[in-house]
Amino acid sequence: MGQIIVLDQNMVNMIAAGEVIERPASVVKELMENSIDAGATRITVSIEDGGRKLISVADNGGGMDGADLAAAFEPHATSKIKTSSDLKGIATLGFRGEALASIASVGQVRAVSRTESNTGGNCIEIDCGNKGSVSPCSADVGTTIQVRDLFYKLPARRKFLKTANTEMGHITERFARTALANRDLDMTLTSNGRAVYRLVSGQSLRQRIAELFSSEISENLLDVESSERGVHIYALLGRPVISRTSSKFQYIFLNGRFIRDKFVSHAIKEAYRGILEPDRFGVVFLFIQMPYEDYDVNVHPTKIEVRFYNANLVHSQILGCLREKLLGTNLDIDAQLPATAGAKGVQTDTAAARERSQKIADAMAEFFKKHRPIQTQQQFGPASKRAFGAASSTRAQTTERQAGITIPAFGAGEKKFLQIHDSFIVAQTDDGFVIIDQHALHERVIYEDLCRRIGESKLESQKLLIPESFEVTDGEADALQTKGELIEKLGIELVPFGPKTMAIQAFPTLLSKVAPLDFVRDLLDLLADKDLSVDTEKLLDEVLNMAACKAAIKAGQKLTTSEIEKLLADKEESEYSSRCPHGRPTTIKFSITDLEKQFKRT
Ligand SMILES: Nc1ncnc2c1ncn2[C@@H]1O[C@H](COP(=O)(O)OP(=O)(O)O)[C@@H](O)[C@H]1O
Ligand SMILES: [Mg+2]
Repeated sequence: MGQIIVLDQNMVNMIAAGEVIERPASVVKELMENSIDAGATRITVSIEDGGRKLISVADNGGGMDGADLAAAFEPHATSKIKTSSDLKGIATLGFRGEALASIASVGQVRAVSRTESNTGGNCIEIDCGNKGSVSPCSADVGTTIQVRDLFYKLPARRKFLKTANTEMGHITERFARTALANRDLDMTLTSNGRAVYRLVSGQSLRQRIAELFSSEISENLLDVESSERGVHIYALLGRPVISRTSSKFQYIFLNGRFIRDKFVSHAIKEAYRGILEPDRFGVVFLFIQMPYEDYDVNVHPTKIEVRFYNANLVHSQILGCLREKLLGTNLDIDAQLPATAGAKGVQTDTAAARERSQKIADAMAEFFKKHRPIQTQQQFGPASKRAFGAASSTRAQTTERQAGITIPAFGAGEKKFLQIHDSFIVAQTDDGFVIIDQHALHERVIYEDLCRRIGESKLESQKLLIPESFEVTDGEADALQTKGELIEKLGIELVPFGPKTMAIQAFPTLLSKVAPLDFVRDLLDLLADKDLSVDTEKLLDEVLNMAACKAAIKAGQKLTTSEIEKLLADKEESEYSSRCPHGRPTTIKFSITDLEKQFKRT
């Protein structure tokens, strides 16, 4: 009895600050959002010591008069909503009326503001919740809020702050998010007096991305746009070459607000399925526009999460439009030759990688030099003739011997190719040549074939001359029974063959190169690994992946000319040949232009 007290307002604010203001970057985010809500066209963010010493955000927005300036730092003070009905369609970034009160409860704040209609400005100071009075001062139209010594009265929280560099990294990230969503803003970020970013208004999204991240990223993005049932989507999708190990480079904006959302993330992941290895993440800049009434932002103190009222619609539209774009695009990888591998942050930009690229380029040039006479004039344009002029046949022969190259005889008019190291196929294209991983490509071709056929009906199978029997545990027998439909769809016929023994009677024709028993054993392992309630479609996909991998030509397998021709023809036919089903690339492109640059021909 008598132990409960009502906390004083400053305590309440400090507790709210614990949710809203995690670190200097949160202050920067909240202040920038206020500037945008105030209609600013210019925002300048100045940071000292990673935000520990100073965070200052200055804008040229609508400003506040003296009375509003005094009220703005009160808890639950906002000009953005008035009644509960306003919560149903929030068009501003802020609405909780918590940020300024929270910030002012955990640091030393000085705010200066002036509205258009006033000739002079006003200022106010608040020191960890102790508010001074408003006094007049000279000011330009707009608002500047400075926060010094964040958390100085809260040693535990101050200690929690990381190094200035780390905190600056978080601030830069928040700045970048705001800059991506607001390209009509002039935005500057300085750290210890040095400009980090100076972004001018009206830049294209790609220009902003190039400035904020790298030109390597901005140059490897695909545009996609779609509008359906009131939901508009615009996205720049990263090609697989720039994929990441985390989802950090997935920027999702909902009506200009940066959000994290599990439905959207899932749709992105699915869109890249089979295009990226499962542990990689596509770089995505996604802008969703939809009526404010169709989602709730009042679910998270930092407003980073929202609740879509029709999450399925959002999910399916994003998935559909992204996937269609990714599948409809040739995603062959451009070879990173030294001259083109200079972009910031490119992993290959190392001496070793340069040397490797140079070696490949040398070997290829030698090959084309040697085989130039076989090419017809029409297929080899004038630029290429220049590039592969004088041949040094002795060196070319040495290369050939060392590499163990087999050169199939190709005649005029046929596709130009050769197999190297019994593993890769080098083939000429209109503007250069490609190197193909024979196993990866064949795996993709078979996988697509399997998917197509199984989509239509079950796989065609043939009876085995002598049924192959194998032992099963009770668990395996159960699994076989539960997944009977799947096994039947695959065209595998299994019959009981004595106690704890089964026999394979029929096996899919398409997998004729695969040993039935091996396959069924691996299939059983796969089924045993899985929870049997797992989505059948996913499981089928895994089984098809496995089947394709087993049935595909192996690395190290010598191919005949007609086998190579078949594979290259299949590549043309294949809907999506740039990646194997596991997401690894099947093909790497080299352009003649790059080679010419390497050989200083241009
Ligand atoms: N930069 C600014 N320019 C003009 N008015 C501002 C600015 N920052 C804050 N305000 C005013 O102060 C109020 C309180 O801000 P805040 O605590 O962030 O709450 P919210 O943004 O949720 O309304 C805002 O509603 C707005 O009226
Ligand atoms: Mg706000």
